[in-house]
Amino acid sequence: MSKQFAVVGNPIEHSRSPELHHAFAQKLGIDLTYNKRLAPLDGFEHNIQDFFQSGGIGLNVTVPFKEQAFALCQQLTERAKIAKAVNTLWMQDGQLHGDNTDGQGLVNAILALGWSLKNSKILILGAGGATRGVIYPLAQAGAKQIVIANRTLARAEQLITDLQQAVPNTELSATGLDQLSGEFDLVINATSASLTGDALQLPAQLKFSHAYEMAYGKPSSFLDQAAQRQVPYSDGFGMLVGQAVEAFAIWNGVKPELRDFL
Ligand code: ATR
Repeated sequence: MSKQFAVVGNPIEHSRSPELHHAFAQKLGIDLTYNKRLAPLDGFEHNIQDFFQSGGIGLNVTVPFKEQAFALCQQLTERAKIAKAVNTLWMQDGQLHGDNTDGQGLVNAILALGWSLKNSKILILGAGGATRGVIYPLAQAGAKQIVIANRTLARAEQLITDLQQAVPNTELSATGLDQLSGEFDLVINATSASLTGDALQLPAQLKFSHAYEMAYGKPSSFLDQAAQRQVPYSDGFGMLVGQAVEAFAIWNGVKPELRDFL
């Protein structure tokens, strides 16, 4: 039987992870099967126990279970501890291990676009789980300054209190989403506004030279505004592929080349 992998979430039907992992496996000559698993909202732990007891090798975790996966792990990578969320699970020496490859996936996608992160000044819109997961990898990739702008300012401030110690060489600061100004190398939309169809208004006094939207496959007022300004921009498909490449490498010991799959 081929090696078994899966992604678990609720909902899960829309997930593109199976096609990505099957494409990586085909390219690298690895025999594996990667399925989708719909877990009931109150049945995540049972679902993953069942998967590993049946001989499953690795599991990706998506909405809304990443924090629960984090809480269940017996071993965590440094970046998963900082993210307080896990998207990649495997068993090793009888223990459940967890990592979070989302942030590195974003970094990989940005670098694959040819955009530089060294000494960069970055603005992140949003202060939820998506933002928490990317601060440390962006700092490790060389971000010099990161401003977190959120509709609810207190949430951005809390994130900075939680994370500044983990990124001593990157200056973190918080601002309200209604107070955007300044000049940035890169703006990242990590709000869930595009997912819910809400518009985000970027004021004229905010200047930026690249724009990255974490969502993909949805209309995005954020990207429309980047296009109007004629700055290079991208939706989040590269981040999805980037996190999948990293998870595949953890489980299979070989890393697919991101650019082959964009
Ligand atoms: P995720 O895990 O995807 O980050 P989350 O933790 O629910 O999801 O966070 C959603 C983020 O999108 C938050 O920063 C939220 O702002 P608030 O903290 O003020 O709620 C932001 N967000 C969602 N809808 C938004 C909208 N219409 N305009 C601006 N920000 C929005």
